[in-house]
Amino acid sequence: MTRKKLLAANWKMNLDRAGTRDYFTKFLLEFKKNDRVEILFAGNFLILETMMDSAKSLGLRIAAQNVHFEESGAFTGEISWAMLSDIGVSEALIGHSERRQYFGETDELIAKKMQTAEKLKMRTVLCVGENLAERKSDQTFAVIRNQLAKNLAFVSHLEKVVIAYEPVWAIGTGLSATSEEAQVVHQMIRKQIEENFSKDAADKILILYGGSMNLKNVKELCSQRDIDGGLVGGASLKPEEFAKMYSSL
Ligand code: PGA
Repeated sequence: MTRKKLLAANWKMNLDRAGTRDYFTKFLLEFKKNDRVEILFAGNFLILETMMDSAKSLGLRIAAQNVHFEESGAFTGEISWAMLSDIGVSEALIGHSERRQYFGETDELIAKKMQTAEKLKMRTVLCVGENLAERKSDQTFAVIRNQLAKNLAFVSHLEKVVIAYEPVWAIGTGLSATSEEAQVVHQMIRKQIEENFSKDAADKILILYGGSMNLKNVKELCSQRDIDGGLVGGASLKPEEFAKMYSSL
């Protein structure tokens, strides 16, 4: 079956409100929307509203980079789905490797976030991936199988879930996985979705590649059978380059 593609930007801890407006002005000079590829931008909490203002009329999807698993309560410093919904945002990245690595997010915690998102009918981009030591010791498949099993333990429908395969050793390093390396992992992920959910869910789910994706490698990576687009960090901060990446798909 033919799946629509998705190109997602992860701006991480970058850009303020003026920078966001400036970004979209430059991006729009280059951007020509097409029906084959959807586009999503994940920004920090403080610019989400500005992003929504810029994106609303253009059919761009806007996501948070994180969200708490409880719906409200005594969780100092956290943001809930209700707060995101209040400004029109109904999508978030979950379990990005930087959250796992620097903020101690465990598979169990990520599972709770996925469960709440499903309950509230919110869309998620669930990030999984192995680190360098795990790849070198041939544990890539085992690590990802385990992450997926645990992270999706309480989820029964995948219509609102996108999976991003992001090898940790390729993130922000300029070292991208080759298209063959990425494809075998994507294929394995799709197989696992078929085993744990259904053939239909596996056929429909979008599986993005992330890790030093840029204008040079985006086309080759996304031409693989099971690679349905990308989650792009560094290169997404350059509006002209990111718009060109979009057009190349
Ligand atoms: P990168 O980041 O493109 O800068 O490697 C990807 C990500 O962390 O989502």
